Amino acid sequence: MVERAAGPPIDECARIVLERGGARPEVHIVLGSGLGGIAERVEDAVEVPFRDLPGFPGTSVAGHEGCFLAGRIEGVPVLLQSGRLHFYEGFGAEIVAAPVRVGRALGAGTLVLTNASGGIRPDLVPGELMLVDDHLNLGFQAPLAGPVHPGEARFPDMSRPYDRKLMALAEDVALAEGIRLTRGVYGWVLGPNFETPAEVLALRALGADVVGMSTVPETIAARAGGQRVVAVSVVTNRAAGLGLEAVDHEEVMVWGAAAGEKLGVLLEGLVPLLAADEAGGPGSSG
Ligand code: HPA
Repeated sequence: MVERAAGPPIDECARIVLERGGARPEVHIVLGSGLGGIAERVEDAVEVPFRDLPGFPGTSVAGHEGCFLAGRIEGVPVLLQSGRLHFYEGFGAEIVAAPVRVGRALGAGTLVLTNASGGIRPDLVPGELMLVDDHLNLGFQAPLAGPVHPGEARFPDMSRPYDRKLMALAEDVALAEGIRLTRGVYGWVLGPNFETPAEVLALRALGADVVGMSTVPETIAARAGGQRVVAVSVVTNRAAGLGLEAVDHEEVMVWGAAAGEKLGVLLEGLVPLLAADEAGGPGSSG
């Protein structure tokens, strides 16, 4: 018999978060590098560090604090996740996908992913927001590798990973708030090193508008379990070879913080619309 790594006990983790947080979230929001400022917009926030959840590791990356925050945004119960678990930290599929599964076990029907990325398309300069329209799995890792989790498809469809209707709602909010939000393709690489200029040219040829080290595994795990996904990328630098400077993590954090305010306004406007749409019931996905 093949021995497989058992992941964290998802239901047990969800029970702990629910016990402390007190309400089932409608929306699960994952914050990317340097984007933790949005946590201040959560009302009645109760923090549950990853290290309090069985089978969860702490996170090791500066800017990734590694906790769930259960609370409300504009009155809607949300599960905010500050810090994520990456393949580049050496974690396997069961760990990387675990936070998404906990959010789903708690009842979140919608997953909102945010990330920092390097801009490849000429207009995607630091500080710009991009709504992820599609992605490329160039990390060549499979977050669903291993046994099929309850409620997940073995071979999930990926023909429409990001929900069209929710994207349109995000664009409505952006327009109303005067925030520029263009659509584009997110190219996922494993990292943790940044790319070479030749790799960036290859990514561009493959159709990537931005490049980053997260989001795609979570999207895949969420879609396998039937959750709706919307993802917003914050461009924190020009990708390697396209800007004047070398790419460094400090720059990512600084631009993340600068654009974080805009992202906060966008999410605050979007969450009530997502919740209302969720209440509209099945059939709203697409
Ligand atoms: N490449 C990969 N990941 C990133 C980048 C980048 O240039 N910027 C922020 N995350």
